[in-house]
Amino acid sequence: MNHFARLTAVLLCLAVTSVPYAQDAADKAAQDTKKAREPDVIYVPTPQDVVDKMLELAKVQKDELLYDLGCGDGRIVATAAKKYGCHAVGYDIDPRRIKESLETVKKNQVESLVKIEQKDIFTLDLSAANVITLYLLPRLNVRLIPQLEKLKPGSRIVSHDFRMKGIKPDTVVDFKSKDGGGDHQIYLWTTPLKKSKPTTPTSG
Ligand SMILES: C[S@@+](CC[C@H](N)C(=O)[O-])C[C@H]1O[C@@H](n2cnc3c(N)ncnc32)[C@H](O)[C@@H]1O
Repeated sequence: MNHFARLTAVLLCLAVTSVPYAQDAADKAAQDTKKAREPDVIYVPTPQDVVDKMLELAKVQKDELLYDLGCGDGRIVATAAKKYGCHAVGYDIDPRRIKESLETVKKNQVESLVKIEQKDIFTLDLSAANVITLYLLPRLNVRLIPQLEKLKPGSRIVSHDFRMKGIKPDTVVDFKSKDGGGDHQIYLWTTPLKKSKPTTPTSG
């Protein structure tokens, strides 16, 4: 074999054997990206009495499924399961919140009813849920509309403090919290979502 042929053979061999390594590197990069994805909003817990009021307004039933989108320490899903006996799933993108949520679920002994999953809420199919709880930001609520429109009729969405521009709430409740202090608002929507009329500038 001449020099050129030997070099070609070596390069060919290297290319073949490096494919699995390239795949490993791609997998690792994908995992790192998942780890590095920053939450869209920082973690602030909903005071416990506000959680209780949100669930009361949503009229959660035992045979229903509740999703908390951005579940923080898991207090909403744990309370829903403990108080109403429903199934619930808490989703969060931050691994620290997932760890805390799992601890909350364990502490409240609701492991058989509650699941906690590390996922980006904007990738979820929400159609199985009957109740959705939110404590995000107004613009994130709006970003969720295409997913929320796929909920079954009669599903309820409750949001701590933030509205959903363009969608008319059924109720807005002002609530004074003893647990967290301060004034809070709770928004309730029932599906199908009702688009609010666009405001027209007044003439004259
Ligand atoms: C304001 S906290 C609310 C926590 C909890 N729902 C409560 O009311 O106590 C918002 C949570 O959303 C999570 N989050 C932000 N962006 C997210 C995303 N794209 N997917 C999943 N979770 C996200 C944050 O990590 C944080 O825990």
